[in-house]
Amino acid sequence: MSGIVVRRSGPLSGAVAISGAKNSVLKLMAATALAEGRYVLHNVPHIIDVDCMSDLLRSMGMTVERSGDHDLTIDRPAEIVPEAPYELVERMRASIVVLGPLLARIGRARVALPGGDDFGPRPIDMHLKGLEQLGASFEFAHGYIEARADRLTGANIVLEYPSVGATENALMAAVLAKGHTVIDNAAREPEIADLASFLNRMGAQVIGAGSSTIRVEGVDDLSAVEHTVIPDRIEAATFLAAVGVAGGEISLTGARADHMDMLIEKLAEMVMRVSPTTDGLWALAPERLHAVDVATLPYPGIATDYKPLFVALLSVAEGVGIVTENIFAGRFRYVDELIRMGADIRTDAHHVVVRGRTQLSGAPVRAPDIRAGAALVVAGLRADGETEVHGAEHIDRGYEDFVGKLAALGADVTRES
Ligand code: UD1
Repeated sequence: MSGIVVRRSGPLSGAVAISGAKNSVLKLMAATALAEGRYVLHNVPHIIDVDCMSDLLRSMGMTVERSGDHDLTIDRPAEIVPEAPYELVERMRASIVVLGPLLARIGRARVALPGGDDFGPRPIDMHLKGLEQLGASFEFAHGYIEARADRLTGANIVLEYPSVGATENALMAAVLAKGHTVIDNAAREPEIADLASFLNRMGAQVIGAGSSTIRVEGVDDLSAVEHTVIPDRIEAATFLAAVGVAGGEISLTGARADHMDMLIEKLAEMVMRVSPTTDGLWALAPERLHAVDVATLPYPGIATDYKPLFVALLSVAEGVGIVTENIFAGRFRYVDELIRMGADIRTDAHHVVVRGRTQLSGAPVRAPDIRAGAALVVAGLRADGETEVHGAEHIDRGYEDFVGKLAALGADVTRES
């Protein structure tokens, strides 16, 4: 177990480069199961989840190597083993997205059932229903999904809810299905549009990704390609939250303002100034932000991943804000940790009521997951004394050099191993 030690800091100043999006690169890596050949992905972040997905692809028989600064080369041989073992799925739930591509290309797959996590139960019923509509059938035994399909056939899939993972699995399966597929009520996240542009580059025919209706004309074959991963909007949001908590003026190189419209609007309501620049985002935060109410929603709404960041921001803002969670049942464990740091927070079902204080009080705390862990570090920027965030390996799953980047902005933060 390693930790991050943070002391009261600010105002922050300077520039940091935003890495490639975790939630995009993992799906692009899964999509390489769709066609033989050599893929080169650029702007791949150095994060543990990429290592997990690399291990999964290797266990299937692919060769995965890092080169240069942020490149990843994947060699996908003609034959691969269509299996995702429990040890790997358990390490990273997102492994479930190999199901669609394996079924589409090989006609069978054996994938461990992912369990729940700190966000509460994480069902995959919509993933399976979409694939079933394309002609797949499933059996469940010994904690595994045994999936089969002769050639998949295009279908009209209406998702009950715009699930990111279910949309991605259906999309990656539909590209090789026979005929036309429509995915309605599809998730609209920028990472879905990135996946579709990768698939189109491979030879797929996908239109409408990034909107609620995705249309796919199945093709017989795809080929390996090169692609640059979009920037991580959640990492960018984390640094915006950092400057919001500590005050200051920062630039985020490579960030895409057009992927973060609603967030930028919310931060403006809190009297933070955020503007696009030629190569990213600029942000200016006063000594103390104003409280607002926030509700998480599927994209283009405020992402559930931003929620712990908002709770940290509100903990030291002026006034009272209510944060409402509409996506995941759980995701509250970090609230108790913030309370241990002196935050005034009450939770009630899906709501968190936060009464801002002028500062928090440094304490030892534990990171329960990637984003909540980062939010605890961010909160520590306005806590007197020392905040020790244990379980920093959670943060490493999704952030490249988090401590180094924060320190480059002038934060007093160190890594303890
Ligand atoms: C992805 C992101 C995660 C983000 C989430 C929502 C990755 C690796 N992870 O997760 O960071 O917080 O989108 O933006 O990209 N659900 C079902 N049945 C299903 C599928 C989902 O009930 O078959 C429910 C989930 O329990 C949850 C909601 O739908 O309540 C949203 O989940 P989903 O959009 O699928 O999130 P993920 O793809 O798992």
